[in-house]
Amino acid sequence: MSDSEDAIERDYVLGTNDDELARLGLQHRVWRDVVLSCWRAAGITAGSRVLDVGAGPGYATQDLAELVGPTGAVVALERSTRYAAAARASMEARGLGQVSIHEVDLMRDPFPPGRFDAAWCRWVACFVDSPRLLVQKIAASLRSGGVAIFHEYADYATWRLLHQSDVLEQFVQHVMSSWRNNGGEPNVARALPELLTDAGFTLRTLIPRIHCVRPGEPLWEWPRSFIHANLDRLLELGRIDAHFARSAREALAAAEKQPATAMLTPLVLEIVATKA
Ligand SMILES: C[S@@+](CC[C@H](N)C(=O)[O-])C[C@H]1O[C@@H](n2cnc3c(N)ncnc32)[C@H](O)[C@@H]1O
Repeated sequence: MSDSEDAIERDYVLGTNDDELARLGLQHRVWRDVVLSCWRAAGITAGSRVLDVGAGPGYATQDLAELVGPTGAVVALERSTRYAAAARASMEARGLGQVSIHEVDLMRDPFPPGRFDAAWCRWVACFVDSPRLLVQKIAASLRSGGVAIFHEYADYATWRLLHQSDVLEQFVQHVMSSWRNNGGEPNVARALPELLTDAGFTLRTLIPRIHCVRPGEPLWEWPRSFIHANLDRLLELGRIDAHFARSAREALAAAEKQPATAMLTPLVLEIVATKA
């Protein structure tokens, strides 16, 4: 990407560089089975029209497109120029003509018109200034009987090694403060049930998604890759110093050599709600 394109890139607290783009891909792959069964249980099927809210580089968008097939439609909303371009290229390469990508700011821009059967929103409500406005805009985009599906954190600080590791617990606190400092709320899922019912939804399912992972397991790569990428980002944002970043990397490397190591992941709440 050229400097002039970089100048219009609308960044956010996690950044949108190539490493973060790749990390989002890994993250989607390890969560993929959970997500596919959630979508199916929520009723997304061939022919469905789905809104992908804050789609990133389009990893989930692609799976949604395959699930709804050529008779369905997926409309992806994303603010980052870089991510929207990556999503567009990926859909074109796969011939997924049922997808359209809209470069929008969820807070400031109108959503594209349409009465969708479902809206999918994962790890996005935690970054916006007003989750209430986000829920209202999603409600306005759904048909009556349509479903809003969220995967958002309800308790980010469940993320810890089972044995004591002060530096990794401090890292989790740094992550949470950086999101709050940028107008987000890591534990946004705690507020969603009320925001949804206020916006005319009926809650259908609320399922906690938490894992206890060990080094070498596929899901270990999810927290591991986030720690490495986000230490770089927190350094770039001036929220930690090089000494802290080094200590955190060393603590993780040491933990990975211990046979007793196990890590609890941040608690995600899966919410499916139906619009009246
Ligand atoms: C952690 S990523 C998740 C991406 C995708 N939902 C996924 O699960 O792979 C958060 C995404 O939200 C986007 N985002 C954050 N704030 C936004 C806003 N106000 N408008 C549009 N997109 C936003 C970011 O650019 C980023 O792509």
